Amino acid sequence: MFFNNLKKNDSREMSKLTESGFHGDEYLQKLVRVLLEKCDYFVETGTNVGCSTIMLAQALIDSSFDGCVYTVELDKNNYEKANEYFDRAGVENIIKAYNQNSVDFLSELSPVDGNIRFAFLDANHDQGNVVNEFELIYPYLDHKSFVAFDNTYLLTEDQRNKRVNGALEIIKRKYGGNLINFENVSWYTPGLAFWQKAPFINDWNG
Ligand SMILES: C[S@@+](CC[C@H](N)C(=O)[O-])C[C@H]1O[C@@H](n2cnc3c(N)ncnc32)[C@H](O)[C@@H]1O
Repeated sequence: MFFNNLKKNDSREMSKLTESGFHGDEYLQKLVRVLLEKCDYFVETGTNVGCSTIMLAQALIDSSFDGCVYTVELDKNNYEKANEYFDRAGVENIIKAYNQNSVDFLSELSPVDGNIRFAFLDANHDQGNVVNEFELIYPYLDHKSFVAFDNTYLLTEDQRNKRVNGALEIIKRKYGGNLINFENVSWYTPGLAFWQKAPFINDWNG
């Protein structure tokens, strides 16, 4: 009944109904834990104070596989706070944190084994920036890698910058792949999407 009475622009109300904010909560940790199969690399843009980063790092530690979490944050105060929390959480050894613009950082990134297992693009949510970030990590994605995008709900009227929603439209058109959007999940702005290049490719093509 409650849902029936909600209009499209009630996304703020809808987002309050979801248990998972994704940022730094255990859903993220559980999700990546089941993705792990080997030495793995995670990338997060937009560390903020490190809530999600710690969850990613802990999932990696629990798996006993090698690997690390790369994370980048533009704001110096956030970066310093995050580092403090990494130390306090005891995960600092497997986090490589950078205080930089995400696009500059990703332009220089080269993961050791050439693959990124999971990327969480959550920094500057302008359309162009999200597309740029995706294009820079694309060479490191294999068919099973996951890319997560936050704040996917379309709220703006600006046709030239439809934020994450517009970026996903461009990515899907240019790169294809599989995209699932959970429209009302996560805090306001809601919307959490996952992109994957080609699941099952080994099973289907031998
Ligand atoms: C939504 S918050 C990230 C939340 C975090 N991923 C989490 O799950 O807890 C976005 C962060 O991105 C940072 N940011 C904004 N533009 C950026 C850029 N161009 N490069 C790197 N970080 C940026 C902001 O300072 C902010 O801390």
